[in-house]
Formats: sequence, structure tokens, C-alpha cells
Amino acid sequence: MPKSARVHSLFPTFVYQDEIFSPRAKINAELLEEIAQFRRIDKNGVQWSKKNYPGGYTSYGSMDQLFRLSSTFDELRLKIDASMAKYVRALEIDIRPQELKMDSMWVNVMPPGVSHSMHIHPLSVISGTYYLQVPKGTRGLKLEDPRMVNFMASPPRKAKARQPNQRFVEMSPREGEVLLFESWLRHEVPVNPTRSDRVSISFNYSW
Ligand code: NI
Repeated sequence: MPKSARVHSLFPTFVYQDEIFSPRAKINAELLEEIAQFRRIDKNGVQWSKKNYPGGYTSYGSMDQLFRLSSTFDELRLKIDASMAKYVRALEIDIRPQELKMDSMWVNVMPPGVSHSMHIHPLSVISGTYYLQVPKGTRGLKLEDPRMVNFMASPPRKAKARQPNQRFVEMSPREGEVLLFESWLRHEVPVNPTRSDRVSISFNYSW
């Protein structure tokens, strides 16, 4: 390229990732214990999951404000609130972070062979997931280029193209990490190919 030429990167999509607890922190064991307890008493959720989350368990349809039921989940919420504030600043959204409130928080237990297809989180501003149990070799969170619908005749990108030029990017968070993204960003959880459960806690912020 001539010296005077430059390629501008415009309209990027920002995703926030941070370790908010050490993988060995006590709170992780407590959360896992409470999730097992919730699952035992949450008859409605187990029923809801059979229809809407085949093979797995989610409290999305039954107990979706876990920070109101458990001080352990509320402790997690406070940590995630701090991350959300940093993310809002990075995005330069023209509101104060305190104007965004976590309005839902639920658990996802994804045994071997279970997946969650492409979706968005309507009516929310920021969504995300905290990773509690990530078996070695499991899949992460697959994100889709939000401009996809406009591409029409746009040729595919090289398989080894740099990450900003990929049409799909799979994030691979570790235990103790949180991922935050804007709620309009389409995402899916590919099938868990391991022999162990993948356990996470998801949430939404609205204003
Ligand atoms: Ni989602």
C-alpha cells in the first residue's frame, strides 16, 4: 500500500471480558452448590427446560432474578455491576452506568451434547454470562457479525483472516471470567462436546 493510504476501522463491536473471581474462589463452589439446590426444588424450571432447553437445565423460565433469592448471587451481581460500569465507559454510552439495572439473572447447566441456538436478548441493553464450570475442550460463546443481514453479494473472508475480519468469532472464557456484550448482538452456544456439564450464569441489564 502507498504510504499515504490507510484503511480505517469503523463501527467496531466491543465485547468485554474480565476475570472477576479466581477460578478457585470460594464463591464459585457456593454458587455451584446453590445451583444444585435450586435445580432440586425448581419443578417449574425443570419442566420449562424440557420444552425449551432440551437435555439441559436453565432457570430462565422460572427463577430469573436469582440475586433477589440468594446473597451469594447478589455478591456476584455487585462484581458484575462494576464490570458493566467499565464496559459502559468503554462504549461511551451517553448515560450514567447507575441508570442500567440488572433485571434478570439465571443459571444454565449444559450437559454433554446440549447447545443453545442463535439469539438476541430483546428489551435489554447489555447482556452477559459468568462462567462457573468450563470443562476442558468445551465450546465458548459464538458471536455473529451484526452486519450479516446487509452483506448480500459480499464475498466470504479467508478462513485465516484476522479476527476483526471474521464473520463469526468464538470467545473462550475461562472459569471465573465474565463476558459482556450489547444485547442486540446475535450469539449462540455450540454443542458441549465434552463429558462434563458446562455451568454458567447469565444476566440482562435494562434502563
Ligand atoms: Ni443469550
